[in-house]
Amino acid sequence: MAVYKPPRIPSTEITDKGVWENRRKFIKRAIGLGLVAGGAGALALGAREQMPEERRKQKIPDVRSTDFGQGLDPTAYEHITSYNNFYEFGTSKQVAESAVSLKTRPWTVEVSGECEKPGVLDIERVLSSFPQEERIYRLRCVEAWSMVVPWVGVPLADLLKTFAPTSRAKYVAFETLYDPRQMPGQKRAVMDWPYREGLRIDEAMHPLTLMATGLYGEVLPNQNGAPLRLVVPWKYGFKSIKSIVKIQFMDRQPLATWNMMQPSEYGFYSNVNPQVSHPRWSQRRHRVIGAGLFAEKEETLMFNGYGDEVGALYNGMDLRKYF
Ligand code: MTE
Repeated sequence: MAVYKPPRIPSTEITDKGVWENRRKFIKRAIGLGLVAGGAGALALGAREQMPEERRKQKIPDVRSTDFGQGLDPTAYEHITSYNNFYEFGTSKQVAESAVSLKTRPWTVEVSGECEKPGVLDIERVLSSFPQEERIYRLRCVEAWSMVVPWVGVPLADLLKTFAPTSRAKYVAFETLYDPRQMPGQKRAVMDWPYREGLRIDEAMHPLTLMATGLYGEVLPNQNGAPLRLVVPWKYGFKSIKSIVKIQFMDRQPLATWNMMQPSEYGFYSNVNPQVSHPRWSQRRHRVIGAGLFAEKEETLMFNGYGDEVGALYNGMDLRKYF
């Protein structure tokens, strides 16, 4: 991943005609991005309402609220949806506009490998046949920044169980769509496409692991990985693979894009761990997106604060070796 640089949003970019047309809207955007100190907190949950109508997404009906993340302060919608990593649309953080070319309906995920009932997962079935839950999770990127996202989704285990994985299924592999016409970033050889990720089966089945269908109560914006995207809150963000089209139960550890590219920098496990520095920067602290330019960095917590829930998965493992 590119070396972390503090955000610099040039005025030429902010005042670009494409996004916000007038001064009032520009100021709102500056607040949403945390450029105006103290603005983010006030915006958090109300931010979606300030979005222009045409940029709102379809509401997901009957979303069950849960206790996950009670007490966390969600990052403003505007920021969650305008500061992204999605290399299929380019290596900048501002991919929202180019991601409009992604067609998210119809959408199916092929499920295969070590299971008794291989088949297809259809986005419409995921939305209509599985209860949708809201879960507020921290997202910690390996680049030393974080957000708090109110996801909507389905526990991954509930989806995977319907395919009856066998006892040979020790891992689960995931793949993003490969279609350079819809995902123009794939025309450049910045990585070996498609983007791939993997989890151990017990990580995939863990109750915290979510297949996200939305955020802030609406279907996922394309730039956040529509229509189905993995969320594994105790791991660095790059494990949360976007726009998934393939899931495979495997008897051995699957390939994972960043791990393949730079194994000394990005481990297969990639559990958030303040004690294991990235070779090029420390992971002890991180910048909170939306907190404003002058805010103090925050301490990074082991397993991103989810140690009570997931620590036992790694009992007896040397987390410096299996980083
Ligand atoms: N998935 C795909 N297919 N392509 C990507 O480039 N980037 C990852 C992850 N999933 C990425 C991806 C990284 S590095 C992060 S930090 C998160 O998505 C960012 O998710 P967000 O844009 O919703 O914050």
